[in-house]
Amino acid sequence: MQGWLEGFKRLAERGGRFTLSTAIFAVVTISPAYAADAEAESVCITCHAELEGELQAPAVEWPKSAHAKAGVMCQDCHGGDPSDMELAMKTKGYKPRPKRDEIAKMCARCHADPLRMRQYNLRTDQFDLYTSSVHGRKMAEHDLEPATCVDCHGKHEIRKIDDPFSSVNRANVAKTCGTCHSNQKIMEKRKIPFNQYELYKGSVHGQAYFERHDLGVPTCINCHSNHGIQKPQQMTTRFICAECHIEQADAYKKSRHWAAAQESGKPLCIHCHGNHAIVRPTSEKFSAPGDLNCLSCHQKNSIQMETAAALGTAITTAKAELDKAKSAMKGMEQWSGSGFETSQLKANLAKAGKMYTGMRTAAHSLNAVAVKADGEAVKQISASITGEVDRMMRELRIRKIGLAVTWLVAVLFSVAVWQRARYCKRD
Ligand code: HEC
Ligand code: HEC
Ligand code: HEC
Ligand code: HEC
Ligand code: HEC
Ligand code: HEC
Ligand code: HEC
Ligand code: HEC
Ligand code: HEC
Repeated sequence: MQGWLEGFKRLAERGGRFTLSTAIFAVVTISPAYAADAEAESVCITCHAELEGELQAPAVEWPKSAHAKAGVMCQDCHGGDPSDMELAMKTKGYKPRPKRDEIAKMCARCHADPLRMRQYNLRTDQFDLYTSSVHGRKMAEHDLEPATCVDCHGKHEIRKIDDPFSSVNRANVAKTCGTCHSNQKIMEKRKIPFNQYELYKGSVHGQAYFERHDLGVPTCINCHSNHGIQKPQQMTTRFICAECHIEQADAYKKSRHWAAAQESGKPLCIHCHGNHAIVRPTSEKFSAPGDLNCLSCHQKNSIQMETAAALGTAITTAKAELDKAKSAMKGMEQWSGSGFETSQLKANLAKAGKMYTGMRTAAHSLNAVAVKADGEAVKQISASITGEVDRMMRELRIRKIGLAVTWLVAVLFSVAVWQRARYCKRD
């Protein structure tokens, strides 16, 4: 039944017109009976299922693959005769297991054929991209360690990429790249670092990806692509940040830094934030020494560091005022029910918070005058919130004192009346 549903779903997703003939087509080509029959009839599977280890694995793994569901059988990749137990591996073009540097070509026979792939609405550029990639180029030189199709997709359990169990599903792909890229033995002799996965795991992006399962953050393939991976020093990898962080990139492009980066390749986002180990930045960057800070490129007491100081001061002083306003509002919340109208104050606080975020973004333009002006506005709004809350608290205190006095008078009066009553009784 699942095969049926899948087939219909796929057709619907492709947006094709759902006519009677497409429905019949779906039944005929994707009927589960088809795959199951073929499986039962295939001596390759019958025999290999009885074997052990590596020889058995294909018979166990293949039935879970996208290929099995589409009726791509053992012989479609390996050749041979699936109907002849005796001669299965001796006729009909049977070839032994492909060598690592032949695998891509084997997959390309179908995946680079537009006629075959059209009905599945799949791209056909994987092989071309791969052969021009860092992995494919090395493989062509008979270096067998770089990735080929089955390293990323699995040998026989090749699943659709949107299947959560696929090794290249967005949620799993970092780990798949990490299997080789965290392997010291493979990488050290090539003088390529092998810490990307670990660094990425600890980064703002990695934490969101692993801990909150937020797939809106970048993972290896956003920055490096999948099939056409190139040397990472190229501009498209280095400036990929702009795809998501549009506002920061807009501000940055107004700066002298962008002009300099086009001449000399520096400084781009990664020269101040890093690539794999990106953390939440703070204003320390403007003044502290360190690889990713202003002082790593600019001399103390230079004009550039004057601007750095101005930007840093504008942001930190605005933050100080904003924090005061925030804690004042927090104190106020304890007195909820006191009858004060605070919705306007809350709206102003939100506005100041937004402006503060905006000025951190705007700092990428290096326009200290504009950032300072924004900072003054943040401070002014924040100070007026703090002032207003102080006034309310004072009023509240006065009200409380008033209330206490009223109580005291009332109590004294009652005591006086009681005393008087006792005197009267004795008399
Ligand atoms: C009667 C049992 C039997 C049948 C049927 C059979 N195989 Fe095999 N197959 C084996 C055994 C045993 C080996 C390991 C020894 C060898 O390589 O000949 C093997 C090995 C293989 C290998 C690995 C060869 C290598 O180079 O390491 C492939 C690929 C393979 N079989 C594919 C197939 C395909 C495709 C079919 C169906 C067309 C098939 N087999 C049918 C028993 C079988
Ligand atoms: C989509 C193509 C494809 C299909 C379908 C396929 N294989 Fe393979 N098979 C390969 C590739 C590629 C390798 C080599 C993997 C490697 O060396 O890493 C391989 C390797 C093997 C091996 C060697 C052991 C190993 O795991 O490397 C055997 C045995 C084998 N296949 C049997 C089968 C059988 C049996 C079926 C059907 C149930 C099947 N294959 C279906 C592509 C395919
Ligand atoms: C370095 C790892 C890697 C290698 C090598 C690789 N792929 Fe992929 N492939 C991926 C990833 C990751 C995706 C999913 C990308 C996404 O989420 O959009 C993918 C997607 C695909 C898709 C789905 C359609 C598409 O293009 O998005 C097909 C088909 C495919 N690969 C086939 C191949 C073939 C054939 C080869 C060998 C020529 C190959 N892949 C080599 C990682 C790899
Ligand atoms: C005989 C033709 C053929 C060969 C050879 C072949 N494939 Fe496929 N492949 C298909 C078909 C057909 C589909 C099913 C597409 C579908 O159902 O949408 C498919 C699906 C896939 C998918 C899932 C794409 C998606 O929709 O997410 C991946 C990944 C993939 N193949 C990778 C490979 C790799 C890697 C190899 C080589 C080891 C290979 N294929 C060899 C025909 C082939
Ligand atoms: C099967 C192991 C393997 C897998 C899986 C693999 N790679 Fe690689 N990768 C290598 C090897 C080996 C090299 C080095 C090639 C060389 O010597 O130039 C390499 C090179 C690279 C480079 C170039 C590094 C440089 O400084 O030249 C990048 C970038 C890269 N891979 C990214 C990825 C990404 C992203 C993935 C996952 C989608 C991935 N790799 C999956 C083995 C692998
Ligand atoms: C946010 C973007 C981004 C993400 C996510 C990312 N990279 Fe990179 N990566 C880069 C950039 C940019 C460089 C090159 C920096 C430079 O100019 O030297 C790089 C460099 C590399 C290199 C070359 C060696 C090195 O460490 O400098 C490898 C290998 C690599 N990345 C693999 C990976 C793997 C594997 C993952 C996933 C675990 C990953 N990258 C995630 C952007 C990214
Ligand atoms: C695919 C989209 C995407 C790409 C590409 C991307 N990021 Fe991010 N980035 C995000 C998202 C989403 C967050 C928010 C994560 C969180 O807050 O948990 C984030 C968070 C950040 C933060 C922390 C922001 C803060 O408020 O403290 C910095 C810094 C950052 N990214 C820098 C970069 C740099 C530098 C690059 C390029 C090397 C880059 N990003 C590439 C989506 C992206
Ligand atoms: C010259 C160094 C430098 C460059 C280049 C740079 N940044 Fe920043 N970035 C900073 C500093 C410093 C901060 C911290 C500001 C603060 O909080 O005081 C920051 C803050 C951020 C933040 C968090 C604040 C916010 O705006 O939400 C993000 C996200 C960010 N940068 C992304 C980027 C991206 C994307 C690029 C490239 C387009 C980039 N940065 C280029 C220095 C730089
Ligand atoms: C990776 C090196 C690098 C880093 C890090 C860096 N800069 Fe720059 N900066 C340059 C280059 C190159 C120029 C253009 C040449 C010049 O003016 O020195 C430049 C120019 C400037 C200018 C422009 C001066 C003018 O002539 O208008 C200012 C201001 C500036 N940087 C401030 C900063 C601040 C603030 C930081 C830290 C947040 C920072 N820089 C971090 C490399 C860097």
